[in-house]
Amino acid sequence: MNGKYYITTPIYYPSGNWHIGHCYTTVVCDAFARYHKMLGEDVFFLTGTDEHGQKIEKKAEEAGVTPKAFVDPLVAELKEIWKALDINYSKFIRTTDEEHVKAVQYIFKQLYDKGEIYKAEYSGWYCTPCESFWTEAQLKDGKCPDCGREVAMEKEESYFFRLSKYADKIMKLYEDNPEFLQPKSRMNEMINNFLKPGLQDLCVSRTSIKWGVPVTFDEKHTVYVWVDALSNYITALGYGSEDDSLYRRYWPADLHMTGKEIIRFHAIIWPAILMALGLPLPKQVYGHGWLLIGGDKLSKSKQDKVKTELTDPKQLVARYGSDALRYFLLREIPFGSDGVYTNESLLSRINSDLANDLGNLVSRTTAMINQYFGGILPAAGMNEGTDGELIAVAKELGGNVKKAMDALDAPLALSEIFRLVQRANKYIDETTPWILAKDESKKERLKTVMYNLAESIRIAAIYLKPFITVAPDKILDCFGIDGKAVTTFDAAKFGELEAGTAVKKAPPIFPRIDVKKELAELEKAAESRQAAKPAEKQKPAAHERKEKEQIDIETFGKVQLKVALVTACEKVEKSKKLLKLSVRLGNETRTVVSGIANAYTPEEMVGKKVVMVTNLKPAKLCGIESQGMILCAENEEGKLSLLQPERQIEDGSEIF
Ligand code: MSP
Repeated sequence: MNGKYYITTPIYYPSGNWHIGHCYTTVVCDAFARYHKMLGEDVFFLTGTDEHGQKIEKKAEEAGVTPKAFVDPLVAELKEIWKALDINYSKFIRTTDEEHVKAVQYIFKQLYDKGEIYKAEYSGWYCTPCESFWTEAQLKDGKCPDCGREVAMEKEESYFFRLSKYADKIMKLYEDNPEFLQPKSRMNEMINNFLKPGLQDLCVSRTSIKWGVPVTFDEKHTVYVWVDALSNYITALGYGSEDDSLYRRYWPADLHMTGKEIIRFHAIIWPAILMALGLPLPKQVYGHGWLLIGGDKLSKSKQDKVKTELTDPKQLVARYGSDALRYFLLREIPFGSDGVYTNESLLSRINSDLANDLGNLVSRTTAMINQYFGGILPAAGMNEGTDGELIAVAKELGGNVKKAMDALDAPLALSEIFRLVQRANKYIDETTPWILAKDESKKERLKTVMYNLAESIRIAAIYLKPFITVAPDKILDCFGIDGKAVTTFDAAKFGELEAGTAVKKAPPIFPRIDVKKELAELEKAAESRQAAKPAEKQKPAAHERKEKEQIDIETFGKVQLKVALVTACEKVEKSKKLLKLSVRLGNETRTVVSGIANAYTPEEMVGKKVVMVTNLKPAKLCGIESQGMILCAENEEGKLSLLQPERQIEDGSEIF
């Protein structure tokens, strides 16, 4: 063994549809894990799912199921996607796994016992989609500085982690280990945005969130979801359990690969927690860029905006194969920066690199060996002309790929491999084997050309193995090599392929795609996807409404109605019909979204006392949670009129 290599992806929130953006980190990590394995290292590759927290709690509630029932099918689907993409992880951890829960409880207790956690009152802003706490000063235009979404004021008893005392230690960590956080720009961002302004202690438990790991010594608290999630990197190895042999074998991690938006958690909070526990730190954290679509980070809500792009990983694999998707993700996105996804960019990568360059080289060469030498690889004679150039590119490939992979630059590693492929194609044009074949006196030269081509292809295929997982074995099979048995790069030495080997004509490895036809088909498929979506729930027009069936008094009694005072009101951006109201019900304040913008202006609404249903399950309208419903009457023409108490009465009064 040449040492160990422990690589991790972030664990994924199973909170909605999986899209091609989610595949990026994992495909990249898989390629690195496979590469290090082929270097002969003892590799552990961890991935999994992050299943606790308010976001999932709310989504499950909206869906009317338990959080576990909500996440289970999404986790199963993610595992299917990893299978389709040939992701060869060593372990898939779920934060709902019993061993993980226990280990998080152990970690939390240790931090408490060491005096790193204390109890106080939390009051501040919380962004549910990011599961992040913010101070007033950190907000950007009153919204979450990370995602730009609404934040909510939260106040409750909490435990705090003494993060503030780690600012200098983290700064020193960066100074002493300039490679710790990559790319460099991310380190500057952490220093300028977080470390220099000073760190604040971090709220690490909640009493209002039930869907989380319970704190053992104070059961009304659950552990903050990020502390729970980050701990996976050691709990997956058995840290805090009876058997921590994997922890002792693999920790510290060699590489935490993550998207750039969660770097703060990995490069500040996680190292601080490890320092507090007295544990070694990961050797490197890498914050990669995003796959953009329509100019934005791909997300569930954006998927609807860019209707024509096919973003479902399973459909993409079914249409083009796992190699095509893996290759695109690893090659197209400059490492560390953002990259753009369109149907067209994917198709053009498939056609230009995989079909034209690689596919053609293999099919032309194997066809020629069959045509000119009856499918038996001839021995090479003396090298001449540009042979040396081709052989040099093949011989230097291992070193160049290593340099690129050490710099965590997978696109560069692939471009080095394709430099050999392209050089071999050029070599065919230079040596014109079809002309050599016509002249018996050139037979020896033709043999050398065929041998050099076969060797270049074999070496390229071996180096491609960590990146794409199907085609290299098919290519190697043409030369009588069992690709599965090629587990290291040792065989990638020029000249190892024996003359006399039977060479099969290559099957079509990457058939060329008719881009125009395919794009038209994708557009048609997108239209039917849209049509197949359940129609938006529309309220029937007043004149279409039927009389409702009779109900008994008990059923009616289930509806709770109260008088509410409108204290503030504004239009909901991007909606013509909706107003967002703040209402007071005695001691309580709530937010309600109501479809009355056509009938009332926000100014008119402030100060009105209205009738409100207060026990409706909260629902999200235009991203805003509505915590009740305001009652209106509507006539035949659709004209609205608010229901109001006829006499002066306090808000919060019950209506019978
Ligand atoms: N659950 C947290 C991570 C906890 S780690 C202890 C989380 N999950 S996530 O599902 O939102 O994201 C998982 C990974 O997918 C992140 O690395 C994220 O950057 C990546 N991507 C999600 N969408 C992406 C793109 N559009 N492009 C590239 N990667 C992006 O964050």
